[in-house]
Amino acid sequence: MTVRMEPAFDTRAFRHALGHFPTGVCVVTARVDGAPVGMTVNSFNSLSLDPPLVLFSVATGAASLPLWRRAEGYAVNVLAENQKDMSDRFARSGVNKWEGTTYAEGLFGAPALPGVAAVLECAAWATHAAGDHVLFIAEVRRFRTASGRRPLVFSKGRYAKLHETEFTASLWPLDIHY
Ligand SMILES: Cc1cc2nc3c(=O)[nH]c(=O)nc-3n(C[C@H](O)[C@H](O)[C@H](O)COP(=O)(O)O)c2cc1C
Repeated sequence: MTVRMEPAFDTRAFRHALGHFPTGVCVVTARVDGAPVGMTVNSFNSLSLDPPLVLFSVATGAASLPLWRRAEGYAVNVLAENQKDMSDRFARSGVNKWEGTTYAEGLFGAPALPGVAAVLECAAWATHAAGDHVLFIAEVRRFRTASGRRPLVFSKGRYAKLHETEFTASLWPLDIHY
């Protein structure tokens, strides 16, 4: 009898493949028990226009996960291309990410960071366990954009910038999409 073994799933190759999808970089913040919470995420995405929903996911191993679960709302700070340092700062674990950071207090007390390309202030809407991450769905209550600021990009495990030609006339949204 021949037993056919499925090849083991190659997680490294999977990560590598996912890296071919470029994303922006956000620092998601909240206020829990009076203290600011923040972490760098590139899992942010738009989800629904009506109601206005967005999403991000937090690793089950993240130290701050219990705090995110308790937050009533979040601010999604979309980083500008000159904010790599901000991204690195909020991607560090076990340190005081807030030391020397100035911010304004948004809805639910969530910190709105200076110099960002956009900030979306959201109310917690739903969470779903999803493998080794927890999916957070949030309802956008208000937002601001700084159209002059270009977004920071993350692609293939590195920070990147959009090329100059990407800033010509906007092609989106096209009529056919709605
Ligand atoms: C560009 C970038 C994107 C990241 N995206 C995510 C993400 O979407 N979800 C996540 O759980 N961690 C993400 N991380 C890692 C977290 O920022 C990092 O684990 C952070 O230390 C978690 O904060 P904590 O230790 O205070 O919980 C990302 C890191 C970088 C540099």
